[in-house]
Amino acid sequence: MKAVKSVVIKEPNTLLIEERSVPEPAENQVRVKVRLAGICGSDSHIYRGHNPFAKYPRVIGHEFFGVIEKVGSDVDSKRVGERVSIDPVLSCGHCYPCSIGKPNVCETLEVLGVHTDGGFTEYVNVPAANAYTIPDSISDECAVTVEPYSIAANVTSHVHPTQDDVALVYGAGTIGLTCAQVLKGVYQVKTLIMVDRVAERLARAKDCGADIVIDNSQTPLPEQLKALGLRPTLVLDAACHPAILQEAILIASPAARVSIMGFSSEASAVTQQSITSKEISLFSSRLNAKKFPEVISWIESKKIDPTKILTHQFPFTEAQEAILTFEKDQKTCCKILLTF
Ligand code: NAI
Ligand code: MN
Ligand code: ZN
Repeated sequence: MKAVKSVVIKEPNTLLIEERSVPEPAENQVRVKVRLAGICGSDSHIYRGHNPFAKYPRVIGHEFFGVIEKVGSDVDSKRVGERVSIDPVLSCGHCYPCSIGKPNVCETLEVLGVHTDGGFTEYVNVPAANAYTIPDSISDECAVTVEPYSIAANVTSHVHPTQDDVALVYGAGTIGLTCAQVLKGVYQVKTLIMVDRVAERLARAKDCGADIVIDNSQTPLPEQLKALGLRPTLVLDAACHPAILQEAILIASPAARVSIMGFSSEASAVTQQSITSKEISLFSSRLNAKKFPEVISWIESKKIDPTKILTHQFPFTEAQEAILTFEKDQKTCCKILLTF
C-alpha cells in the first residue's frame, strides 16, 4: 500500500484532493508514477455531473503519462523505469466487437477515469498492456497527448483520407485540431477546411494545417462554401451539435464520407434522400481501437506536432482552477496539462 494524493470528484461539483492508498500492482499490472495528465471535456462533464457513464466518487483523468515504478508478477521487471502513455480503454478481448478489432466498443467497455478510477493521481495501477512505451526522442509534454490524437487516428482510420480529398472539419477544439494535424500531416489531404465560431480557435486551426478557415457565426456555412466553389469529399464533425449532421450531408460532394463523433442524446433530423441521392457513406467513431503505437510513430516522425495544441500547465493540486480555466476561456485554451 502506498498513500498518494488524487483528484477526486466526490459528487457532481465537488472536487477534492484526497489521500488514498494504492495497492500493489496485480499480476498483469504496472504501477505508474504519473508525471503529466491532460484535461479533456469529459473530465469537466464528470465534475459537473453531465457524464452518463460516471459513478461517484471518481478519480478522473484518462489522458496521462508517467514512469513505471513497479510491475506485477507476470510483467517483465525490465519495464521498471520505462516512460509510458496509458491507453484508457479497458476491453474483455473476446466479445464480438473485440474479436473484430473494435475493443473501443467492447460489450463490457470501461474507460479509466470514467467507469473506473483514472490518472489524476500521483500513482496508479494499470494493465501492463495499456502502458505504451514512449521513445526517448518524444518529450513528456508530447507523450501525454497520445490519447487525444488517438481519437483522430481512429476516426481517420475509418474514412481513409487521400491526397485527392477536400476535407472539412467542424470545430477547432482539441479534437478538431488533432484531426486537422492528422488529415494534413499524415494523409496530406489536398485541401483542409476548418470551421468554428471563435476567431482565436480558427487561428490555431491555421497553425495546425488548415488551408482555409471559415467562421460560421454570422453567415451560414453552406452559403460560404458555395461562394468559394467548394464541395467537401470528406467531412468530420468535431463540434458535435446534433444539427450539424444534416448540414454536413448537404454540403458534401456526391460519394463523400461523413463521420460523426458526438454523444448527444438529442435527435438529429436527416432525410434519406439527402444521403442516398449522393450515396454518402456515414461513419461514427468512439475512443480508439489500439491506435497508440501509430500515434507514437507519427509524433516520432514529426508528422504531427502536439506542441501546437498545448496552452496551459497547472500543478495537480490546482485541478479545480485548471478545470474552471478550461471551461471559461475558449479563446486562449486548448490542451491544459496537470503536473505531478
Ligand atoms: P471543444 O468544445 O473544445 O471544441 C468544440 C468546438 O466546436 C469549439 O471550438 C466550438 O466553438 C465549435 N463549434 C460548436 N458548434 C459549432 C458549429 N455549429 N459550427 C462550427 N463550430 C462549432 O471540444 P473538444 O474537446 O474538441 O471535443 C469536441 C467534441 O468531440 C465533443 O462533443 C466531444 O464530446 C467529442 N468527443 C468525441 C470523442 C469520440 O471518441 N467520439 C472523443 C473526444 C471528444
Ligand atoms: Mn480525452
Ligand atoms: Zn470485449
